[in-house]
Amino acid sequence: MNRLAGLALVAAAIGGGYFWLSSRPAKAPVTISVVRPELSAQALRGETVFQGTCAACHGAELTGTDNGPPLIHIAYRPAMHADYAIVSAIKNGVVAHHWRFGNMPPQPDIAEADIAPLITYIREMQKANGI
Ligand code: HEC
Repeated sequence: MNRLAGLALVAAAIGGGYFWLSSRPAKAPVTISVVRPELSAQALRGETVFQGTCAACHGAELTGTDNGPPLIHIAYRPAMHADYAIVSAIKNGVVAHHWRFGNMPPQPDIAEADIAPLITYIREMQKANGI
């Protein structure tokens, strides 16, 4: 390979890498088959709240809808989004930064006492599905 071709290849690799980094996840979430584990009492309570308020955007199976992302997703594993991120999402909403669904509005109808059950539900569902 001559030097020019080598350079062109390196430039293409850098350009490709940049394109890969700058491309964000597509809007339509991938359909996965979700396992619903034997939920704890706390998670069951959280499930009721989730289905009433959050499922409209995050999906009844936490796999997302046209209005919001899946929460059963590697991006939302506890190491990436600690429990506080869930509390903050509920209280303050979320400025769109990760997807193309727009902002998440704050959820003022969620009672303080329902936050811990919601977190437990999301975490138990994630864990059962390898997140
Ligand atoms: C009106 C639609 C909508 C509703 C209702 C909604 N969300 Fe969201 N949520 C979103 C969108 C959109 C995002 C993604 C924003 C982004 O990062 O681009 C999001 C992101 C999140 C995140 C990630 C936060 C972060 O730090 O990135 C969590 C956690 C979350 N939502 C939890 C909830 C919970 C719990 C409820 C119910 C109390 C709920 N959401 C209700 C639309 C919604």
